[in-house]
Amino acid sequence: MESRSSPRHFLQFNDLTREELGHVFERSRIIKARFKSYQRYWPLRDRTLVMIFEKASTRTRLSFEAGMQQLGGAAIYLNTRDSQLGRGEPVEDAAQVISRMSDIVMIRTFEQEIIERFARHSRVPVINGLTNEYHPCQILADIFTFIEYRGSIQGKTVAWIGDSNNVCNTWLQAAEVLDFNVHVSTPPGYEVEAERAGLYGTSHFQQFSDPMDAARNADLVTTDVWTSMGFEAENEERMRDFADWQVDGEMMQAARKDSLFMHCLPAHRGEEVAAEIIDGPQSVVWDEAENRLHTQKALLEFLLLGRLND
Ligand code: CP
Ligand code: NVA
Repeated sequence: MESRSSPRHFLQFNDLTREELGHVFERSRIIKARFKSYQRYWPLRDRTLVMIFEKASTRTRLSFEAGMQQLGGAAIYLNTRDSQLGRGEPVEDAAQVISRMSDIVMIRTFEQEIIERFARHSRVPVINGLTNEYHPCQILADIFTFIEYRGSIQGKTVAWIGDSNNVCNTWLQAAEVLDFNVHVSTPPGYEVEAERAGLYGTSHFQQFSDPMDAARNADLVTTDVWTSMGFEAENEERMRDFADWQVDGEMMQAARKDSLFMHCLPAHRGEEVAAEIIDGPQSVVWDEAENRLHTQKALLEFLLLGRLND
């Protein structure tokens, strides 16, 4: 049997070191500038990305599929509805087969444990395109967006208002790796669970019962839907429980004057965010969405080709 070294994966934000993330952000900048000036850049010619979706997506699918094509490669879309994945084929078997026919795999699924099992049996790198616990590609784009607007995020304060979900957990992990602070405010009963968030300690985050306190003096205010995919049965109860956790004008007033507003999208105006905020001057949500494309291209390049400097 041939010997193989195990591939690098991006299953959680802290799978990359601070130094590697710095490299990926710099490559994102270069790759974005090339794309904007219509320069052909095809380092992934003849490489194939397989994308497996067990939940809906617009941005993640589009950014990976377009990104792979723009890098000279190909992307194949699989979903649970019309592949054997939805009919009970063991994830370990799927990983063996899929990773023998492709160069890199992206998965959007339910429990983190599913993607971890897939990765253990994969010959090629596996990227987390969202699980119940994490959304590392989103935070890669969000932090790159912050850097574009404001420079280094080190030492800055991010206010997370709302559900302690996959996106929140990933912000918290990122704070540990990149040394910034996250102020979280959730309704009672929805607090951050440090273990589920994959944290080493609590030195980079603080929980606040009043969302106004979390927002105070923040450099960035961010939120997400009250009901994430997979939790739809709780929707009615959540609408009641989260009613006071809307990012509105008053909350943005409590943050720094030059604070930014982010949302991973899709958003529900009038629920987790007021329309005047998401459509207002502090909002950078469209850059944030676009940067999914550029940062994931840099990530694909890094996982497949290592550190390029050209
Ligand atoms: N933000 C995000 O991941 O969007 P999609 O669900 O559309 O992929
Ligand atoms: N927290 C949301 C993010 C969607 C991109 C969800 O998991 O549905």
